[in-house]
Amino acid sequence: MKYRQAGDAGPLLPVVSLGLWQRFGEDGDPLTQRAIIRGALELGVNHFDLANNYGPPPGGAEIRFGKVLQSDLKRQRDSIIISTKAGYPMWPGPHGAGGTRKHLLASLDQSLGRMGLDYVDIFYSHRRDMDTPLEETMSALALAVRQGKARHAGISSYNVADTHTCIQIARRLNMPTLIHQPSYSIVNRWIEEDGLLDALGKERVGCVSFAPMAQGLLSNRYLQGISRDSRAALGKHPKPKVITVDFLDRLSLLQALADRRGQTLAQLSISWALKDQRVTSTAIGVSSVAQLRENVDAINSVQFTTGDLSEIDDLFLDWQMNMWRP
Ligand SMILES: NC(=O)c1ccc[n+]([C@@H]2O[C@H](COP(=O)([O-])OP(=O)(O)OC[C@H]3O[C@@H](n4cnc5c(N)ncnc54)[C@H](OP(=O)(O)O)[C@@H]3O)[C@@H](O)[C@H]2O)c1
Repeated sequence: MKYRQAGDAGPLLPVVSLGLWQRFGEDGDPLTQRAIIRGALELGVNHFDLANNYGPPPGGAEIRFGKVLQSDLKRQRDSIIISTKAGYPMWPGPHGAGGTRKHLLASLDQSLGRMGLDYVDIFYSHRRDMDTPLEETMSALALAVRQGKARHAGISSYNVADTHTCIQIARRLNMPTLIHQPSYSIVNRWIEEDGLLDALGKERVGCVSFAPMAQGLLSNRYLQGISRDSRAALGKHPKPKVITVDFLDRLSLLQALADRRGQTLAQLSISWALKDQRVTSTAIGVSSVAQLRENVDAINSVQFTTGDLSEIDDLFLDWQMNMWRP
């Protein structure tokens, strides 16, 4: 594994992080989930990205992850970076979602309880809540850090203007670190267009980008049609309607480039997301240990020729998806 520091004062993170959004709820096989988590650590993927609502049901992924942690990995806690988030609906009523002090701090306590932890390493505001002032959201994150319930604070899917405001508030509150988690892939480049990536680089804020394979679209998963055990077939994300003939034509040309580079499609997509040093880590999902092993190999080929890059741009710059663009 290779590690990059998240900004100026953030933690060292593996360039590939494991996300538990899909495949880690009660609908998944616990033995496979355990094998993937243990396999990740063996490969040096020591950053696990969760959220209060990952499941099913919401909270389910934290419970499953917590069980593996307690049974197998308790003694390794000091070598593992665990992230969670709050912001999407978790319980009924006005305090069950959003970016308020009440919601964020109550949700963090619930997450710690589900995972059996005293602290998480990164606690994120999962999305911008337009009804709550950023001052309130940021001061709740700062309090979580001061209380020792989170080592670092983060924001996810915030646009560049709100991010600048958060950075200023964080400095005023003496928060040593802020980490951003935006989506980013060959078919989803909003952080370049918005100026967010430039801003994070300039301000030395860590960037944990997510979904480099665009939920599996940028892999061989759908090249021969929708396979029965894929996320699209199981009614999860991605949705089958985006897998068009036009998309598959472009994907097979991307496959040819991957072949020439000696990579699989999944590897090429992960390497692409890591080519820019301002990206600290990319959070991936997998449904098997084999996928994980294949994907981790991508870290050895993050250099692209200008010819490769323009070939990728020619294929996909006009085929962009809106994935969590704020
Ligand atoms: N902050 C946020 O708002 C937010 C939102 C979404 C996600 N995230 C984070 O980002 C993480 C990753 O998201 P994601 O799982 O949607 O994105 P992804 O990494 O782009 O896609 C993962 C999917 O790609 C397929 N795949 C992976 N490796 C493969 C390989 N070698 N060959 C063929 N197919 C392969 C698998 O599909 P199958 O399962 O069908 O095999 C896997 O589930 C999440 O777990 C979460 O931690 C954050």
